[in-house]
Amino acid sequence: MSPFLLTRTLPEDATDAALRADVQQGLTGTPKTLPPKWFYDAHGSELFEQITELPEYYPTRAEREILVARAGDIAAATRARTLVELGSGSSEKTRYVIDALSDLHTYVPVDVSESALTQAGQALIAERPGLHVHALIADFTASLTLPDTPGPRLIAFLGGTIGNLLPVERAAFFAAIRSLLSPGDALLLGTDLVKDEKVLVRAYDDAAGVTAAFNKNVLTVVNRELHADFDPGAFDHVALWDRENEWIEMRLRSRTTQTVKIPALDLAVDFARDEELRTEVSAKFRKEGVRAELASAGLELAHWWTDEEGRFALSLSVVR
Ligand code: SAH
Ligand code: AVI
Repeated sequence: MSPFLLTRTLPEDATDAALRADVQQGLTGTPKTLPPKWFYDAHGSELFEQITELPEYYPTRAEREILVARAGDIAAATRARTLVELGSGSSEKTRYVIDALSDLHTYVPVDVSESALTQAGQALIAERPGLHVHALIADFTASLTLPDTPGPRLIAFLGGTIGNLLPVERAAFFAAIRSLLSPGDALLLGTDLVKDEKVLVRAYDDAAGVTAAFNKNVLTVVNRELHADFDPGAFDHVALWDRENEWIEMRLRSRTTQTVKIPALDLAVDFARDEELRTEVSAKFRKEGVRAELASAGLELAHWWTDEEGRFALSLSVVR
């Protein structure tokens, strides 16, 4: 195997078909919604990287603090030879785990963003000669087939991206993950924690407006791919804390009454003034909730580590 392989697990037009189906369903339903995976074209992936550097956006720094402190413990507990990372993005924080895993044979980053996979993969093979990198362009909510590489296998799902799935999607996701693991394998999961509402809302509504640009990028993606005529300037970025569901919700609020045309779907979508389109939920967790969700899928929480301030948690579940 060459040191860097990039595999598309779905035919190229599958992404287009999935986007069409999501836009058709999401913009004709009430309330209007779009799934967050469509933020991440090359520009969206770049905007996310800018978000991770914002003073208000603490999750990346908090998770990095835990990884720096615990990479040795993770390596000792798993002795992984294959590391699979879902929604790997830049793979920047993952390097601490890669460095600590002395017997690591293959790293399998999985992402919908081809640009993120290519950049991260090329950088890694340059930095870590001998490491096999088998990148997969794939949707981690669809059924995944992993390459046949040596175990034990560690699946990492970092950044708190699990919170971008709805509870029902999370249950299906954990069950699917469990089916990819054998005894001796493990799951490393990053979860952002429930905290003060002001801190949370600020993290999703930063002063520089980067999160607003990231949110509106989904409209640009739909314009480019489906020839729609969304005017991003005709929508306001909204971030609010849903106390009942314990999640942040990002929305786009229509500034006026307007009709958006989506010729590729032969669709015209009416927005009332102040009508909101939900673009993302970002759930925040508590330890017992995480333990229960994992247990429902047959995964046993073995370690729970937080940063000093208790903002973010990394958990390790081992399959017995
Ligand atoms: N893990 C990184 C990146 C988090 S951003 C970190 O902690 O910083 C979320 C990443 O998940 C993006 O790179 C995005 O392209 C990817 N992603 C989002 N939804 C996805 C899906 N359904 N399938 C695969 N990748 C997805
Ligand atoms: C990728 N994911 C964990 C981010 C989050 O915090 O939910 C995406 C994001 N949305 C707005 N800012 C960052």
